[in-house]
Amino acid sequence: MKKDLFKHKPLTAYDAIYEAQKIAYAPLVFQAVRTMRELGILSQLDEHKAGVSANEVAEKLKLSLYAVEILLESGLSCGVVDIDKDELYHLSKTGFYLLHDEMTRNNMDYNHYICYRGMYHLDEACKRGKPAGLRVFGEQWETLYQALPHLPEDIKNSWYAFDHFYSDSAYPVVLPIIFEPGPKTMMDVGANIGKFSILAAKYNPDIHITMVDLPDQLQNAINNVSEANLTERIDSLAMDLLDRTQRFPRGIDAFWLSQFLSCFGKQDIINILQRIASAMGDNTRLYILETCWDRQQHEASAYSLVNTSLYFTAMASGNSRMYHSDVLIKCINAAGLDVGKIHDNIGICHTLFECSKPAA
Ligand SMILES: C[S@@+](CC[C@H](N)C(=O)[O-])C[C@H]1O[C@@H](n2cnc3c(N)ncnc32)[C@H](O)[C@@H]1O
Repeated sequence: MKKDLFKHKPLTAYDAIYEAQKIAYAPLVFQAVRTMRELGILSQLDEHKAGVSANEVAEKLKLSLYAVEILLESGLSCGVVDIDKDELYHLSKTGFYLLHDEMTRNNMDYNHYICYRGMYHLDEACKRGKPAGLRVFGEQWETLYQALPHLPEDIKNSWYAFDHFYSDSAYPVVLPIIFEPGPKTMMDVGANIGKFSILAAKYNPDIHITMVDLPDQLQNAINNVSEANLTERIDSLAMDLLDRTQRFPRGIDAFWLSQFLSCFGKQDIINILQRIASAMGDNTRLYILETCWDRQQHEASAYSLVNTSLYFTAMASGNSRMYHSDVLIKCINAAGLDVGKIHDNIGICHTLFECSKPAA
């Protein structure tokens, strides 16, 4: 871990109490900024580079002056909006990124649609080791992954946009690494909607891929493979990998686990990897792509990752997280596998672990 990660400068008591208020009001400020983005207030400021009055914004957007003023004042307080001596409002640099940066938009939408309401139950989730916040989407689900295909479109779309934004940037970088040893068969474990499998099948015309996921999730993947005319080379296998009796078939050259192990607690990770290990031959490769918070180049990435762990706690599983790489490596070793090359800085924030059975 980088030595200076999350090291904080000494504060005066006054500064510390101000910082504490920023945290105490963070949920309200989050919603104020998101609302300004949604209602078009940030766009209005962006369009008026010379500044714009609250009155003009209210008239243009057909909102009350009251609504525009309370939102702009909140924006001022958190540095999203600036005001000049003529009382004209401007979009700050932070506001610019909140409006235009795709990553920030995806993170904000995901935190709003997927996490916000359920986070109210974080304390219960921490005590029980269950995703207690998931009940905001219905009482019937044990993990978010069972619920995901059945969620309303706006909620589901924010999850997919968030998940794919990060993995999409990593896939093109890992393909040459995975195909270097010349695998003929591959298993995409946690295939989601089949994005990686489709990309890999297009990248290498000789590969045969089996997508593994929960049955309801897999249906989307199967439809996408069919639309891509790849059903001859990509098939599927429905498995709930929390069911420890489920076994993997032998004869696979490469197992691919992308953003998958973070969905599970440590004991489940070890158990899943043990089951993969027992299906692996001497030359089988296991590739694990994860976002480890300790291996980030930038503190901003580590900040987002450690706070994404809270989603896993309250919403997804109650016992999974964004792992420190040392923990993942210990799990891989505990399953009887060796870690070979580790590739950092893949895409936006990923690390690729190449694993294999120990040499006899
Ligand atoms: C975070 S997504 C990652 C998707 C994709 N591999 C990627 O790189 O973006 C995790 C995937 O694992 C699947 N999954 C979660 N729990 C599972 C379980 N118990 N058994 C099988 N698949 C599961 C989810 O349905 C989801 O598609």
